[in-house]
This record gives sequence, structure tokens and C-alpha cells, in this order.
Amino acid sequence: MKLIIGGSTGFVATELLSQALKNPAITSIIALGRRGATVPADANSNAAKTKLRSITCENFEEYPDSVKSELANADACIWTIAVTPMKLSTVPWEETCKISRDYATTAIKTIHTLRPPQEKPLRFIYMSGHFAPRSRAEIPPALQNHGLVDYGLLRGETETLILDYAEQSQGTVQSCIVKPGLIDAPGAEKREIPGLPHIDLPDIAAALLDQVIRGFEKDTLSNDDLVRIGQRALAGYSKG
Ligand SMILES: NC(=O)c1ccc[n+]([C@@H]2O[C@H](COP(=O)([O-])OP(=O)(O)OC[C@H]3O[C@@H](n4cnc5c(N)ncnc54)[C@H](OP(=O)(O)O)[C@@H]3O)[C@@H](O)[C@H]2O)c1
Repeated sequence: MKLIIGGSTGFVATELLSQALKNPAITSIIALGRRGATVPADANSNAAKTKLRSITCENFEEYPDSVKSELANADACIWTIAVTPMKLSTVPWEETCKISRDYATTAIKTIHTLRPPQEKPLRFIYMSGHFAPRSRAEIPPALQNHGLVDYGLLRGETETLILDYAEQSQGTVQSCIVKPGLIDAPGAEKREIPGLPHIDLPDIAAALLDQVIRGFEKDTLSNDDLVRIGQRALAGYSKG
């Protein structure tokens, strides 16, 4: 399987990279980012050499041909690029919309267009968040309390656009939205936000890889789904 990881330098993507390098079902990894990806310290150097290509890109709204050729014929993509709530105050709103919504919709379209017709559909995961409503009627009080209504709606709108793209692809694209709560790094102190569930970093990375390899259980995965799928996948690996 050829897998694209969009936003390969991030917190989740770094763990994805580490697990994907160890997973024999993934034979090629395109680590796409505005900066080069770092090879994880625990990576087998042979796997890193043969499976991994770090591709940097300056324009995520219009990919140059050199990047397009690297993205061609992918089987799956896990898209992690977004402005996260913690960085929201440092990025102008217009940029936030571009980075968190338009980059994702450009990615699914471009990667789809760069595939020759084939039996298996492209599998595309968009990483969103627990509190991202798809309509005003679904806005949870927690978003209001934190002044994040517009941000939540932006992420929810992107979910809808990504699902609609697959819906209109006549079966050539499957998309999946993942909605984790707070993602905890091993050994780090747990942050608490009322109403937000938790998931461990290795669990979510294992769940995302499981789903692109085995197929999507459904088009939207909650935090509970991700914990269950990730722990099942990790238990499977430890049995060998
Ligand atoms: N972490 C959590 O607890 C959590 C919880 C729920 C949902 N999520 C969602 O999961 C996804 C990944 O989260 P994360 O914690 O891994 O985020 P992160 O560490 O901030 O990584 C985000 C990635 O996006 C890239 N990026 C940001 N701005 C960009 C720009 N202008 N152009 C190109 N690339 C840009 C970053 O590149 P640089 O490294 O160059 O900055 C990085 O690779 C996000 O959608 C987030 O909202 C995260």
C-alpha cells in the first residue's frame, strides 16, 4: 500500500510515521509537509530508506508537478494538516480557513485525480475533532464556552466537504472523518477539558493505519471507536 501522510511533521503524524514504517502492509510512505519529515528514532534504517519519501511543498492549494508526481497512484491518505485550537490565536482567520479546510479539499481532489482507474477506491482520512459540529443546530455548549463556535463550524464544514467528495466519486473514493478528543502523549501530563474524552497517541495512530489498511468501519469514527480499533490493532501486533 502507498500511503500519503499529510502534515508529516506534526504530533500525530510523527507517531503515524513510526508505526507505518514498522507495518509490512504499508510498502511506500509519502510524508508530505511544509518542512521535511524527521525519521523516527526507533525506525529501522532499511525500512526508512526503502519505504519513506519526505516531500516538502510550499503551496498546498496548487501542487507543483514535482509534488504531483510523488502523490500519484496512492492507495490512501491520512490528512493531519490544520490549525489546532491552541495555535488559533497566532493565525489570521482567513489563513485558518485556508489551512484547515481548503488544503484538505485540494488534497483529496488532487490525490484522487492522480490515480489511474482501478478497482480499489482511494481511502482518505480527514482528522477533525470531537467538538466539530456539521450544523449550527449541533453546536455543543463547550464550543460556546471557549469562544470556538466559528472554528468548530469550520472543521465541521470541512468534514461535510470531504464526505461529499467521496459521495460524488461514484465509488472511486472512500472518505472517513475521525473525531478524537484530547490525544495524550506517552508519559506526558494529561490536560483536562470538561466533556472531552481522551485517547493515547499510539492508539489513535494504530486506529488510523488499521482503517486505511482494512477499510473504513463507517464514515465517521468517534473517540470511543478510535480507542477500540487502535487497542485491537496494537494487541494484534504484539501477538505478532
Ligand atoms: N493533538 C490533539 O490532542 C488533537 C485532538 C483532536 C484533534 N486533533 C486534530 O488532529 C490533527 C493533527 O493534530 P496534531 O496535534 O498532530 O497537530 P500539529 O502537531 O499542530 O500538526 C499539524 C501539522 O499541520 C502542519 N501545518 C500547520 N500549518 C500549516 C501550514 N500553514 N502549511 C502547511 N502545513 C501546516 C504542521 O506543520 P509544521 O510542523 O511545519 O508546523 C504539522 O505538520 C489536527 O487536525 C488536529 O486538529 C488533534
